[in-house]
Amino acid sequence: MRIAVVGMGFVGLVTATVLADRGNTVTCIDINEKRIDWLKKGDLYIYEPLLRELLLKNKTRVDFSSDYSNIKGNEVAFICVPTPTVDGRIDLSYVRSAVLSAKSVDSDVIITVKSTVVPGTASALSSHIGRDIVSNPEFLREGNAIDDTIHPNRIVIGGKNSDYLEKVKRIWEFTGAPVILTTNENAELIKYGSNSFLATKISFINEIANLCENIPGTDVATVAQGMGMDHRIGKDFLRAGIGFGGSCLPKDTTALVSYAKERGVELKIIKSAIDVNNERIEHAVEMIKKELGNLNGKNVCVLGISFKEDTNDVRESKSLELINALMSMGAKIQAYDPSVKEVDGVEMVGKIEELTQCDCVVIASEWKEFETNAIYEKSKKVIDLKRVVNIQTHPTVLRIGAYNAKD
Ligand code: UDX
Repeated sequence: MRIAVVGMGFVGLVTATVLADRGNTVTCIDINEKRIDWLKKGDLYIYEPLLRELLLKNKTRVDFSSDYSNIKGNEVAFICVPTPTVDGRIDLSYVRSAVLSAKSVDSDVIITVKSTVVPGTASALSSHIGRDIVSNPEFLREGNAIDDTIHPNRIVIGGKNSDYLEKVKRIWEFTGAPVILTTNENAELIKYGSNSFLATKISFINEIANLCENIPGTDVATVAQGMGMDHRIGKDFLRAGIGFGGSCLPKDTTALVSYAKERGVELKIIKSAIDVNNERIEHAVEMIKKELGNLNGKNVCVLGISFKEDTNDVRESKSLELINALMSMGAKIQAYDPSVKEVDGVEMVGKIEELTQCDCVVIASEWKEFETNAIYEKSKKVIDLKRVVNIQTHPTVLRIGAYNAKD
């Protein structure tokens, strides 16, 4: 098929690349000309495993442009523009303008919204442009995005026009995933419900982690393992740490709470999940202070800057929040991250082994290479805030969510 993808952020670029790899001809549009120039030259501004290779492999089927008129002639246009949270509410202006632009250049193209939007958005825009819009939320995780796009757990497609729904369904048929055909509103809420539930799971296990730190003989990793073996609970998203960051979970939980509030509904559990998440850095700082005392003038070496492993994305990074808190207390920070090489006010090193003069090594994200390293043996104190360090090879490391953290 001939497909347009509007918005060359993380979701748009991954979607375009996978669709091209499946034999579609893909027109990529972004109003940011600089991004389009980079992409034309093969420069990727995001790090995502396999993305560069897959894009290169399919370059003859992918076109980049900052001109909306290139949507013309495509059968489907996926809208993948950002929906930031501004003052706690979702900002839909980019989606609105992308939909209007797509409609104005081609009144036949099937406009399909992938961006995360609050329920009612697609229907309202459909009425506005006088044409049905399809909702097709994505569930891909950064760091695993290609595989998540090719092997999703489900495909959700919402809308009123059955021909449009069938066409979008056909695009994703190669995944073999179960398909839910439903209303726009259900599709939109499935995305928010999913992200809010995942966020809640993380905050839930982080509360259990706090409890474990106060009960001799307990460790949240084992408790989570035992809980997760119950299929009704599931083992994923029960990793305790410094909370959820990134471009989706913090933004989507906040947007859903305020969307519900405007409708007179208080989402108490999701609000609590946000509150628990907001307390994680203070908790981590207390843990570090317990080991180092006054932080003024202390040298703290931080491993991991991006909001999670396998990405260079620092949006809502809990590690950066931690670093800022430590610096505000007078600590000096040296840091290492496999993909992030520059951070204001922080001395970044190229290899873990180059970290020097640490009063304490703090692990703040889950890159595989942090599981084991000789530096842990040589350092005075090591605090694992993401439960990534191998307990067998490094038993003396202090762990968040374990009684030994307060021992
Ligand atoms: C999330 C959703 O998982 C995905 O379905 C949606 O499409 C976009 O938002 P993403 O933000 O890329 O994906 O990363 P995710 O793997 O969900 O991690 C989010 C944050 O939660 C990270 O900071 C991660 O470190 C943290 N996390 C995740 C935990 O602290 N514990 C866990 O068990 C899982």
